[in-house]
Amino acid sequence: MSDTNWALLAEQAKQAAAQAYAPYSRFPVGVAILASSGRIYTGCNVENASYGGTTCAERNAIAAAVVAGERQFDALMVYTPQEKLTPPCGICRQVIAEFFRPDSPVASCNHLGQQQSWTLQQLLPDAFTPTYLQQSQKV
Ligand code: THU
Repeated sequence: MSDTNWALLAEQAKQAAAQAYAPYSRFPVGVAILASSGRIYTGCNVENASYGGTTCAERNAIAAAVVAGERQFDALMVYTPQEKLTPPCGICRQVIAEFFRPDSPVASCNHLGQQQSWTLQQLLPDAFTPTYLQQSQKV
């Protein structure tokens, strides 16, 4: 994981953001995720006139990877052309926690070349994960 190519992830996330469908918020987001297989998958936000039907770039990237057969990931990069670096929203943090380890790096970058990184655990401490269901008492 230390050999994660962050520059490549940032470039791929930027390219994904260029495909964002964000006519309502005008807040394009692109995401690139590195699967444990070594492959990179991307997603952009896809908004909807109903607003509630909008899906975030993070979840679209994860869905694209899952349909390709991936289940484990090592790193995630968000790109937004915003001066304030953007972390994943709350719903996306929960979905990221389904497939990434607590110590996985989740980073954000922008058009100014700035970058910030967190671990998933920092973004979503004490996450509700599949382990709770595996260890649950069936009632
Ligand atoms: N958005 C994302 O794609 N990812 C996030 O983590 C934050 C929010 C999108 C959803 C919506 O299309 C726009 O950004 C404004 O909320």
